[in-house]
Amino acid sequence: MLRLFAALVVLGLLLACFTSWLFDSYDGAWHPKRSLFPQSGRSGGPPHPGGQRDNIFWFVQVSDIHISRFHDPRRIPDFEKFCTDTIDVIKPDLVLATGDLTDAKTESKMGSLQHEVEWQAYHNVLKRSRVLERTKWIDIRGNHDAFNIVSLESVNNYYRKYSANQKVGSFHYVHRTPFGNYSFICADATLVPGPKRPYNFFGIIDESQMDMLETFREESLSSNKSIWFGHYTTSTVISPSPGIRELMSTAVAYLCGHLHTLGGFMPALHSRHQGGTLELELGDWMDNRRYRILAFDHDLFSFSDLTFEDWPAMLITNPKDAQYLQPGVEPLGRIRSSTHIRVLAFSESPITAVYVSVDGVTLGKAVSAGGPLYVLLWDPMHYATGLHTIKVKVEDSAGRSKVREQQFTLEEELTPSFGFVQSFILLTDHYILARIAFVVIVLLNLGGLVLFRFMPVSSTRGLSSQAWMSLHLVSKSNVFFYTLLLFNLCTALGPWFIGEVIDGHIGVCFAFGVFVDGHFLEGSLTYVVGFIQVLFFNMPLTYYLCWSLHHRCRGTNFRSHFCRPGCRWRTLAVHLGMLVLMIWQAYSCYFLLETYGSLAFFMSPVRTWALLMGLLLVYRAWWGKPLRFSDGSKTNRPL
Ligand SMILES: *[C@@H]1O[C@H](CO)[C@@H](O)[C@H](O)[C@H]1NC(C)=O
Ligand SMILES: *[C@@H]1O[C@H](CO)[C@@H](O)[C@H](O)[C@H]1NC(C)=O
Repeated sequence: MLRLFAALVVLGLLLACFTSWLFDSYDGAWHPKRSLFPQSGRSGGPPHPGGQRDNIFWFVQVSDIHISRFHDPRRIPDFEKFCTDTIDVIKPDLVLATGDLTDAKTESKMGSLQHEVEWQAYHNVLKRSRVLERTKWIDIRGNHDAFNIVSLESVNNYYRKYSANQKVGSFHYVHRTPFGNYSFICADATLVPGPKRPYNFFGIIDESQMDMLETFREESLSSNKSIWFGHYTTSTVISPSPGIRELMSTAVAYLCGHLHTLGGFMPALHSRHQGGTLELELGDWMDNRRYRILAFDHDLFSFSDLTFEDWPAMLITNPKDAQYLQPGVEPLGRIRSSTHIRVLAFSESPITAVYVSVDGVTLGKAVSAGGPLYVLLWDPMHYATGLHTIKVKVEDSAGRSKVREQQFTLEEELTPSFGFVQSFILLTDHYILARIAFVVIVLLNLGGLVLFRFMPVSSTRGLSSQAWMSLHLVSKSNVFFYTLLLFNLCTALGPWFIGEVIDGHIGVCFAFGVFVDGHFLEGSLTYVVGFIQVLFFNMPLTYYLCWSLHHRCRGTNFRSHFCRPGCRWRTLAVHLGMLVLMIWQAYSCYFLLETYGSLAFFMSPVRTWALLMGLLLVYRAWWGKPLRFSDGSKTNRPL
């Protein structure tokens, strides 16, 4: 799935390079526009960050845990250690577990279903570690937690029984502290009903969910700051206009998971919406054992992405990282009026020293202000203009140390921009891109077929004279034309397969979406799959048939054309290429069998039937009767 998504990303990147100037959609990621932000953003009123442990709280995010009964036996004990030891060291006010709590796959990793034992394992970790007594644990569903669940009331929706939170749907949680209220809004885009994988990769937020989120947004305006979170990146959520990003523009950040660092390809997926909100994807617990510490210090937001048991962990809360300023909602003036540099430092062993330097000049050793907070007096006015680098080194009594270097600035317009690839992955509505790509490729393929059908040619002799003219051969022979036309129309509009999209519930899958149990789930990943289908099967098959008919018309047969001098290797390559694509199509049929069951396998015009059709057409082209063309002529050369 992620490989498929990565393929889409590479394809889309090319397209995006050409269109980004048109849509302007990555603008915010590059330069947060001053004009976008209200005046309140630059307020520097009290309280100011100083030498006391006040006006600060921190919390933790962990994502994509994927408790599995089949794979990686270390995953569960490590997670338990995280819930006991790590949480004990950090003592966060709350923990957000942003979805995919369980893996819910079959042993082969292809099929999907809810395993009660995985949920019980998750539940047991929470119980044994007593983490719920020590912190507020907010766990939400991800797409894996929604595989194969027909409704929220369904008995196999184990989330309702075994999670800590047990809240399905979006919700608004207010974290109250003596110094302010902080809103945490969950945007739940998991599918209801939840199909089995893979057509569960994109989330959907419908109109009624949007209305609910709009109310939460309004409620959250009375909080000091708000954080939105969910499982999916906003780029993998379908939402009605004005869109989910617009709705969360009053938030400091949107926290999510889902993409698992794209298989190591993108270790840090962070960007900024046009409205200024940061979008921060967190790598997975599953393989990478990632987690994140986040803090609000005097309403300034900061965070640090960390790896399990990689101590000491630290987070510089003032001056915060220049890359992650949210000038629209953060009181950035407080950095300027602060009296102390503030660092949170955590380790299993006692912290022995926290050294601070700025621009290569040592400022001194920070002192403990209570708990994990270390402070050091500074004069921000020495750094009033330009970008500066702060470097902090933390040492603990076990002899471990960590250095962190980051940039800061007192001029918000100097915020460094995010990389184009990161922004592209997080800020593009991929389902729209995929839909455009799918429509274009289908039209190209169908257009070629139909165009050559009606384009006149002088004679049948002319038909076969040049290789490229051979599209005429396929288009003007009734058998080939109507079969391929029907097949391509079916890929574009018709059902792809009918099968158990959810166990016990028959659904129908089209390019534009999936119907199941009286619900319609809008198409998204289907367009990507459709694009790949057309690119790697429908189109090559058409051209292979053209090429075959071309040779057939010239009197060569399957055996003899290998013997022509000079062309042997090319001929072999063409046949082998088609063979590989046929095998790929056969694998797709097998994948369908594994994911949606035997009914889907047998009732699948675009997979199983298409493979048979392809084989029959190839047979017809090389070994069948002479062809009759639409203008009445025939290829009646001897074979
Ligand atoms: C939170 O908001 C309240 C009310 O506006 C304000 O008095 C308080 O200082 C704020 N807290 C922080 C840490 O800025
Ligand atoms: C937090 O919310 C409560 C209830 O709405 C309110 O009474 C309190 O004043 C708020 N605290 C701050 C610091 O704004």
